Amino acid sequence: MTTDPRVALVTAAAGAGIGAAAARRLAQDGFDVVVTDAHERRCHEFADELAGEAGRQVSAYHLDVTDHAQVQRVIAEAAAAKGRLDVLVNNAGWSKIEPVAEMSVETWQRCLDVDLTGTFVCMRAALPHMIAAGSGSIVNISSIAAWEMSAEHGAAYSAAKAGVLALTRVAAAENGTHGIRVNAIAPGLIYNDFLRRIYPEEFFTSYLAEKAFLGRIGQPDDVAAMVSLLASDESSYVTGEVFTVSGGVSARG
Ligand SMILES: NC(=O)c1ccc[n+]([C@@H]2O[C@H](COP(=O)([O-])OP(=O)(O)OC[C@H]3O[C@@H](n4cnc5c(N)ncnc54)[C@H](O)[C@@H]3O)[C@@H](O)[C@H]2O)c1
Repeated sequence: MTTDPRVALVTAAAGAGIGAAAARRLAQDGFDVVVTDAHERRCHEFADELAGEAGRQVSAYHLDVTDHAQVQRVIAEAAAAKGRLDVLVNNAGWSKIEPVAEMSVETWQRCLDVDLTGTFVCMRAALPHMIAAGSGSIVNISSIAAWEMSAEHGAAYSAAKAGVLALTRVAAAENGTHGIRVNAIAPGLIYNDFLRRIYPEEFFTSYLAEKAFLGRIGQPDDVAAMVSLLASDESSYVTGEVFTVSGGVSARG
């Protein structure tokens, strides 16, 4: 008897960072991956690349998590096309650093819309499919900025990512008896080309010298490995938790 492969949908999966690494790792783990991203062209290109690498089907959907109707439609379509939805990785995030005294309401609102409300609407769209199946795993990408003060993060981002942790705990409590686990990952600084462009070289060297116990900067694959664990049955008694992936930065305080 053959069983259909399990299906994992990742938001904001077509960048150079955590989302793409998570999608790639889940494909390696044997999931049928649904790649979604607000950037339509890159979304399709990345899905094709991943399908070639993994030797399996990878679907692609244009999805901006701030478009609530699109979230509802895409998640319903993807679940119907595959006949199941086992894992949701809420990876979409946005930030702009403005001091509170000078922050525009637009910056505050955009950050909450992408990071917090985006996570909520994707969970709301995915949960009925998981409840009907009696199983599922949701992994929300928060940040150590949820509790750690740092000028690099900005208050809107910190508030939104703290909200993601609260949302994770309550959704875990509500859905545990449906066989659904909901967890969060709080990465520290994770390298990508975009960060390399916006921060000066000294930022990375001082981070390494003063903060990271392991003497290196985190990579998207470091977070993808935790996504893989939380998506798998190896973590079947784990829910409502937050897992820090920061190379010791968070432990230093
Ligand atoms: N990189 C870090 O240092 C770091 C640290 C802690 C937490 N995080 C969190 O990890 C997640 C991934 O960050 P990353 O830096 O690895 O980037 P990433 O490469 O995973 O994500 C960038 C992608 O997000 C897409 N995107 C942007 N807005 C979107 C929206 N509204 N809807 C759908 N897609 C959208 C972009 O098109 C791009 O492809 C974010 O939630 C971020 O807040 C990152």
